[in-house]
Amino acid sequence: MTSISNLSRKQIESFQQSDARINIFEGPVRAGKSFSSIIRFIEFCRSGPPGLLLLAGKSEKTIKNNIIAPLQDLIGSAVQYRSGKGEVYLYDRTMMVCGANDERAEQKIRGSTLAGALLDEATLLPESFFKMLLSRMSIPGAKLFCSTNPDSPYHWLKKEFIDRKEELDCKVFSFNIDDNPSLEDQFKEQLKREYRGLWYKRYIEGLWVVAEGAVYDFFDEKTHVIPYKQANATKYIIGIDYGTTNPCVFLLVGYNKNAFPNMWIEKEYYYDSKVALKQKSDYEYVLDLIQFMSGYAIDTIYVDPSAASLKQEMIRNGVMNVMDADNDVIPGIRFVGQLIANGTLKVCSQCVETIKEFSTYVWDEKASERGEDKPVKKNDHAMDALKYCVYTHFFQTLGCSNMTEREVLDMEKRYSYRLGQSA
Ligand SMILES: Nc1ncnc2c1ncn2[C@@H]1O[C@H](COP(=O)(O)OP(=O)(O)OP(=O)(O)O)[C@@H](O)[C@H]1O
Ligand SMILES: [Mg+2]
Repeated sequence: MTSISNLSRKQIESFQQSDARINIFEGPVRAGKSFSSIIRFIEFCRSGPPGLLLLAGKSEKTIKNNIIAPLQDLIGSAVQYRSGKGEVYLYDRTMMVCGANDERAEQKIRGSTLAGALLDEATLLPESFFKMLLSRMSIPGAKLFCSTNPDSPYHWLKKEFIDRKEELDCKVFSFNIDDNPSLEDQFKEQLKREYRGLWYKRYIEGLWVVAEGAVYDFFDEKTHVIPYKQANATKYIIGIDYGTTNPCVFLLVGYNKNAFPNMWIEKEYYYDSKVALKQKSDYEYVLDLIQFMSGYAIDTIYVDPSAASLKQEMIRNGVMNVMDADNDVIPGIRFVGQLIANGTLKVCSQCVETIKEFSTYVWDEKASERGEDKPVKKNDHAMDALKYCVYTHFFQTLGCSNMTEREVLDMEKRYSYRLGQSA
């Protein structure tokens, strides 16, 4: 069970003063925001108006990990979770559990009357859900407590609530990384080293900053490009981004957990039909792939999930261990970014197109103005191929295999694990 040894000044302040209708706990990772909102919500369960309460997050799984498990850690068996019914019981109160990962989520709470709600990772929820939730909180004295990391300054939560807190019945508690008394200095230092660029500003400095310029703006040829592989790989994987009118890319990534760097992009295949003035068929690509792989023992080939025809052709021609890649864009980018930032991943100098893309792969400014983080769909072919293999293989599979669900979620949040040694 978690013991509350002490609370930081910010945690005490946010606990005592979060008496508005909307209470937002915002700031960097691991700053103690969720912890504070949870202990405040426990108190609200006792002292707030009677009626149905709501626990919301991106999915039921994240609610279970980020709200229900900490609640159980704090007050033990007084919290009962009936996952089949999607309900939690605490101090004779019923709480509805609601995963809100898309626009349809607001339908789940339409028609209900709520006395209060606790939300985890508010910026990840749809605006329509948040607004519907506020309209459902019609019992006098109803309150909302939510925690979040900073996002774009154009994000709806920032523009419509945080920036307008004076006009609304809304209080904002801004945490920083020192507001969590349970974090050791060494851990904080480690966290600081593991984020770069956009994510350093948001997740460490706690700033609401726009995604602009190069996605991997911290990529530096002097540091991240190596002349050739530095060790023999214990494993090879391949990532494929498919294109007929657009370029088609294969990347060969080597891995050895006992070497430094642990992971390197060893070889690239980059075919641009517009430059070559000739389109290739799926069969021709497969022949090129077989030649590309020749001499290497390949563990798994991760293919663009939309390239069904190429995948079929590969299987027809006896290419083994072919898998659909995970196409989760932002988590994939964050993960690759972390591997580059912490020195795990390097690129061999012969991969010239890949090296070029590291600086030409940019954020979409139009999407940024709408509060969305989205890369421009241009100069993204090697970047996608890389994300496909590295994120799907190491994050989704190997990295998680020995971890509990809770640890995986923590890892997803912090991206701070190492795949081996790094210097
Ligand atoms: N006062 C405290 N006493 C004991 N443990 C604490 C305290 N404050 C925070 N913690 C613990 O520190 C860890 C991080 O805190 P918390 O989950 O609240 O951070 P957060 O700001 O919500 O981070 P994230 O942005 O990553 O979600 C948790 O394991 C939490 O239980
Ligand atoms: Mg949190």
